[in-house]
Amino acid sequence: HHINLQDIHDTLVSVAFEAGKMIMAANPNDISQETKMNSADIVTETDQAVEAMISSHLTQKYPSYSFVGEETYIPGKTAITNEPTFIVDPIDGTTNFIHGFPNACVSLGFAVDRIPAVGVVYNPFQDLLYTGILGAGSYMQRNASLPEGSEFKPKRVKLGPGKKLGDLSSALVAVEWGSERKGQNFAIKTRVFQKLTAAKEADLEHHEVGLVGGGSMVHSLRSLGSAALNLCACAAGQVDLYWEGGCYPWDVCAGWCILVEAGGRMVSGNKGGWETQLDSRVYLAVRGAKGGQEEIVKEFWDAIGDEEMV
Ligand code: IPD
Repeated sequence: HHINLQDIHDTLVSVAFEAGKMIMAANPNDISQETKMNSADIVTETDQAVEAMISSHLTQKYPSYSFVGEETYIPGKTAITNEPTFIVDPIDGTTNFIHGFPNACVSLGFAVDRIPAVGVVYNPFQDLLYTGILGAGSYMQRNASLPEGSEFKPKRVKLGPGKKLGDLSSALVAVEWGSERKGQNFAIKTRVFQKLTAAKEADLEHHEVGLVGGGSMVHSLRSLGSAALNLCACAAGQVDLYWEGGCYPWDVCAGWCILVEAGGRMVSGNKGGWETQLDSRVYLAVRGAKGGQEEIVKEFWDAIGDEEMV
């Protein structure tokens, strides 16, 4: 039967604003937190309350669609199926939220046949909204919650391919430490971060007079603490790549739709994986560009080597 993606998008936008109000209403001096896997893996009462609001709203309005949310997911039991499914993170960037670092969002995705079909990502700290609908483009809106017609509300910006991607050495790359602080992914990440940012050997040997050392494999790394906002930054061309291992579908579903509609691509964060799935947990996002996407992906994979994140 027919699924009205525009209607779902409109609903998700209004739910996102509601969630944003709840997030901004939390008193930063008084946020109660619990840890999950370790002290870097945190959930707050606000995460739980926001998810409850979102799920009750969506399951009432769309009772036949499935719902998967970060705070109600049961490891080993909850799976992403081919059914139309809302895939939701009430607060992506919980660590930032606790610290008042203004880069956290509500991430509302909708997938059909496991393909991200609608994405709404809203950062209430900056009143910044990113949206995407499969086949209908993606957009960025500043001062998003102001009423239509307000003189302080700029036009929404359609996202699309930026200039041709250059070499990896000119790329700004988003990465995340994630919430795991040991194990295989952590070891690979830290090794790759160092490799990407250290001065290249060749440049050190042949440096020009007056220059100490040379360039590194990437322009620089950024680690801003929200997978969904990293994907949106990539969709908007603010970073060229985003590399991550250890995320979940609710971290990426919404941003994935927004990225792809902006001409970006999602491939595996492990070498050789031109296809990656919503629940593969290992991703490399590339911004939309008038050329150079495959080349930079190959260059990045070569930099990682043969080790595989899980
Ligand atoms: C986390 C953030 C972080 C990413 C982690 C996620 P949360 O989400 O997106 O940037 O590295 O993998 O779990 O816990 O703040 O919703």
